[in-house]
Amino acid sequence: MSDGSVPDGDSDPGPDLAARRGVDDAVVYQPAEDSGLLAEAAVEAARGRVLEVGTGSGWVAARIAAERDLDVVGTDLNPHAAREARKRGVEAVVADLCAPFRADGFDTVCFNPPYLPTDPDNEWGDWMEHALSGGESGRELIEPFLDDVGRVLAPGGVVLLLVSSLTGYEEVLGLIDDAGFDHEVAVEESFPFETLSVLRLDRRE
Ligand SMILES: C[S@@+](CC[C@H](N)C(=O)[O-])C[C@H]1O[C@@H](n2cnc3c(N)ncnc32)[C@H](O)[C@@H]1O
Repeated sequence: MSDGSVPDGDSDPGPDLAARRGVDDAVVYQPAEDSGLLAEAAVEAARGRVLEVGTGSGWVAARIAAERDLDVVGTDLNPHAAREARKRGVEAVVADLCAPFRADGFDTVCFNPPYLPTDPDNEWGDWMEHALSGGESGRELIEPFLDDVGRVLAPGGVVLLLVSSLTGYEEVLGLIDDAGFDHEVAVEESFPFETLSVLRLDRRE
């Protein structure tokens, strides 16, 4: 929510995606339906040491920490986001995806990626673009995330990844398979313009 009025621990994810996408002066992505679905799945499935990649406002990470009493670390490329997450009490660092972390460091990794397919000619070049645009395919952040997340995941660890139908659901399933994970749908909700799913990924035996 662009006025920052979603209080810590509030389970209301805020305004709908379409409304939030219309906000053009925001610097940090504010909780919306996708955030709410990721939080719902993560509060249910998270365990051990938790990493939220692309933590944004820190709202999802703060809910996991509060409702499950777990240690949660957030990363974000956007320094304004890392600052806002820290104000929410989340240990947040400016980083590219999982890059700074050692191997096997986390039991749970969550990611609500930028996923809107965006024509290169229409990229608008600010922090909200980093929050929303998944490049031409919509999967330009999902691909490197899946390439590296297995490295930071401890044995038996779990990944929770939000996927939109706009991003190419079957294509994302192919990337998940290529990365060596099995998947199941943790939560899913349909909206007039897209279906959002949070997939739980477990390393294939
Ligand atoms: C869709 S928003 C999700 C924010 C928050 N997790 C939520 O669910 O409300 C995606 C977030 O990923 C961040 N991001 C984009 N590229 C990133 C990267 N390479 N590494 C880390 N974070 C990134 C954006 O700045 C943005 O905060």
